[in-house]
Amino acid sequence: MGTMNNFIKMNKKYLLWFAQEHIEFRREEIMSLVSLFNIKMNFVEEPTLEQPFWVVEFLNEDDVHLLANRSVSLRSCIELLTFAKSVKGLHENLKTFSTDYVKLLFDDNKSFKIEVETFGKHFTHSEKVNKLQAFDYLPYKGKVKLKDPDTLFYYIEYYGTDPTCPPKEPYDVYFGRWIINGLRQLVKKFSLKTRKFIGNTTMDPQLSFLMANQAKVKKGDLILDPFVGTGSLLISAAYFGGYILGTDIDYLMLHGKTRPSRISQKVREKDESIKANMVQYNLESQYLDVMVSDFAAWYWKDSLKFDAILTDPPYGIREATEKIGIHKEAYTISEEHLATHIPAKIEYGISQMYFDLLKFSCKHLKIGGRLVCWFPVFREDYTVESLPSSNCLKLVANSEQILSKYTSRRLLTYEKIKEPGEVDLDNEITIADFREKYFMLREETRKEKRIKKAQEKYENYQQYLQKKENK
Ligand SMILES: C[S@@+](CC[C@H](N)C(=O)[O-])C[C@H]1O[C@@H](n2cnc3c(N)ncnc32)[C@H](O)[C@@H]1O
Repeated sequence: MGTMNNFIKMNKKYLLWFAQEHIEFRREEIMSLVSLFNIKMNFVEEPTLEQPFWVVEFLNEDDVHLLANRSVSLRSCIELLTFAKSVKGLHENLKTFSTDYVKLLFDDNKSFKIEVETFGKHFTHSEKVNKLQAFDYLPYKGKVKLKDPDTLFYYIEYYGTDPTCPPKEPYDVYFGRWIINGLRQLVKKFSLKTRKFIGNTTMDPQLSFLMANQAKVKKGDLILDPFVGTGSLLISAAYFGGYILGTDIDYLMLHGKTRPSRISQKVREKDESIKANMVQYNLESQYLDVMVSDFAAWYWKDSLKFDAILTDPPYGIREATEKIGIHKEAYTISEEHLATHIPAKIEYGISQMYFDLLKFSCKHLKIGGRLVCWFPVFREDYTVESLPSSNCLKLVANSEQILSKYTSRRLLTYEKIKEPGEVDLDNEITIADFREKYFMLREETRKEKRIKKAQEKYENYQQYLQKKENK
């Protein structure tokens, strides 16, 4: 670190402090927001996936506010006065800062507080007080105020992400002025525990907000979820100012008539619905509508364009992958049965479904608009090449959430880069067929379990016979 004068000449350095939850998505979220707000951000040090602290540069503090007012991964943003690889190094740096800026921060009219935080290693209260007293040389003039000080400083020691064997000395040490917190409070505010209408497929609120950020939803955007279920993805889109539309093949789900998913609830309340959730969160003004419809037979006007499509299509595990259809050939319904006819459903192959989703997005997204969707994969087989792709859609983010030893789902973000040619739209999309293998493997693991159980039974029986013989 240079002196404070050097520091001012450079872009200011900031510490982005992240929550250690859903860490695979944090970089994608921040990069989407950086692109949404056209922010210039440089990494001073390239962070690893697990690292909750990023040292970055921004051109000005307004950008920090823009980012923090949208990010759910971000815990806090701190203007870094200095940082070092050792405690001694940090204090040496700080002692050289005798400029007006530091004096200004410790002005006699301003109250302050220094918060000591350690990450990855536990320290007692008195050990933390000792760390605090090491700052006695700072030119404080103002009063210490523990609640709502004018300036809040953070001193942070980072010991890595494995608290079971932390190093003796910290890897990184930071000191800076707190600026703003991220939107972590939304995780609690939108908790499923207190949400009126939920189902088995409702998305965790943090992931929903991450998706809306990756989709770069902004005020006035038109947003669609074509597999809307209980509408959890649309809540976050509406919160960021999007106008929301949803469709789902499941009539009972959209009408809040499916079996309640809360164990404590025997029957659904009369008014459970996606709209009721919007009312609960005071987002009713953003709600356009939800409709029962089969995505395999979409009916939208060609001219309708969405700013973003956010969706979690069915994988056939918790919910059926179906579309309207019948295996019988040349099937007709008589006039008298038409009014009461409930159409039959046939299997909607996952490959076909993603093909349709990409085709729909090529056609109905605005240029620059984003499709953010989950895609299930068989981990061993995964390669980027096996992901659905299209000439009109650029894959801009791709992160994994592990579901089991064999499977995971990937959150894919595509950006529309060109309009499709009228004739060759089908040729613009490539989808690998993976589902058969996925299910074969599920069958295999079941079979393996059955064999293991039978073997255990057999061994127990042998032991029992042996004991009997010994007696
Ligand atoms: C994984 S869930 C989506 C959950 C949703 N994000 C939520 O908040 O509850 C997939 C949804 O796709 C619906 N679906 C299945 N096949 C469909 C089809 N052919 N057309 C439209 N929706 C379909 C299911 O009824 C289910 O609600």
